Amino acid sequence: MSLAEAPVRDFTFTVKATDGQARTGEIRMPRGVIRTPAFMPVGTAGTVKAMYPEQVRALGADVVLGNTYHLMLRPGAERVARLGGLHKMMNWPHPILTDSGGFQVMSLAQLRKLDENGVTFRSHVDGAKHVLTPERSIEIQGLLGSDIQMQLDECVKLPCSDKEAERAMELSLRWAERSRVAFGEQPGKALYGIVQGGAVPSLRVRSARALADMGFKGYSIGGLAVGEPQEIMLAMIETVEPWLPKEKPRYLMGVGTPDDLIESVRRGVDMFDCVMPTRAGRHGQAFTRFGKLNLRNARHADDPRPIDETSSCPAARDYSRAYLHHLVKSGEILGMMLLTWVNLAYYQDLTAGMRQAIAEGRYDDFAAHTKEGWARGDL
Ligand code: GUN
Repeated sequence: MSLAEAPVRDFTFTVKATDGQARTGEIRMPRGVIRTPAFMPVGTAGTVKAMYPEQVRALGADVVLGNTYHLMLRPGAERVARLGGLHKMMNWPHPILTDSGGFQVMSLAQLRKLDENGVTFRSHVDGAKHVLTPERSIEIQGLLGSDIQMQLDECVKLPCSDKEAERAMELSLRWAERSRVAFGEQPGKALYGIVQGGAVPSLRVRSARALADMGFKGYSIGGLAVGEPQEIMLAMIETVEPWLPKEKPRYLMGVGTPDDLIESVRRGVDMFDCVMPTRAGRHGQAFTRFGKLNLRNARHADDPRPIDETSSCPAARDYSRAYLHHLVKSGEILGMMLLTWVNLAYYQDLTAGMRQAIAEGRYDDFAAHTKEGWARGDL
């Protein structure tokens, strides 16, 4: 057996090339390889909405995201474990990253109460009371079988006072420590710490340094794309980047637009997740190399052209805009399926293009050329 075929037991990250701050590399773990920069399609409830798992894989996705909050409420973490874990249940044998639950509790649950111990809340599904602590979140992510787990944290919406950002950041650090202890040593899996600190550079630096001292296998940047302009988000990434260990992956949570991805990779980010491509697809919008199209718009009603005949995605090549417009206007399921497919293909092709451009030392040209395409439009 050659070295390349030897089974992988550990979680490792290798940076293969850099271009400025931008990096391309590989995360290796027993369930597979994640090529970075990576975009992770969101599979909140154990499904990337409107897509077959095989289709998600065929687009080039190496990893999908699952949510502690949704899966603990329905069908329940212990039930998923009895069914053989999330990979088996959703027929996705490749890596899965799970979010820890705190972010979704704050945005979705009713009657939540946050204290030092954790978050107590009522389920948005049936009103039942639940408690999520840093330890229980790690336990749930273990029951799901997650490969890359997140610490429980508190994410505040921006704008907020410096005092509020500091309180939430300090609480998140204490929860990081408890999560780290609860996770222990799991060679083939990873736990990431999450940088918080609102839009206050000194708080961001304090958070990043303290997390780096705790020794995580990866570092997430949280609390961004929560109501602030893009320039603030990018400034926060630039602030924390020097404090995050270069040899560990960095994951910008819940981001973003194609432009956000390009600008964040330029500043040293390796991983992303966002509902944007899947959600926009279900709402009639298509991401393309010449910008965003709204297929609901009446201007598409008689247009026989496909979305983009040069796309790698059959949904973008083989269906007319007129037909897609009709499907979207009629609320047909196929319209959502086709546009989700178009959008995830666009995001995967975008990150594949970034990886290649970084490897070839032409990231700035790639970024400029991609943006020119959006600015030019399709007419
Ligand atoms: N998803 C998007 N932002 C965040 C964040 O700050 N924390 C967590 N846990 N998940 C997120």
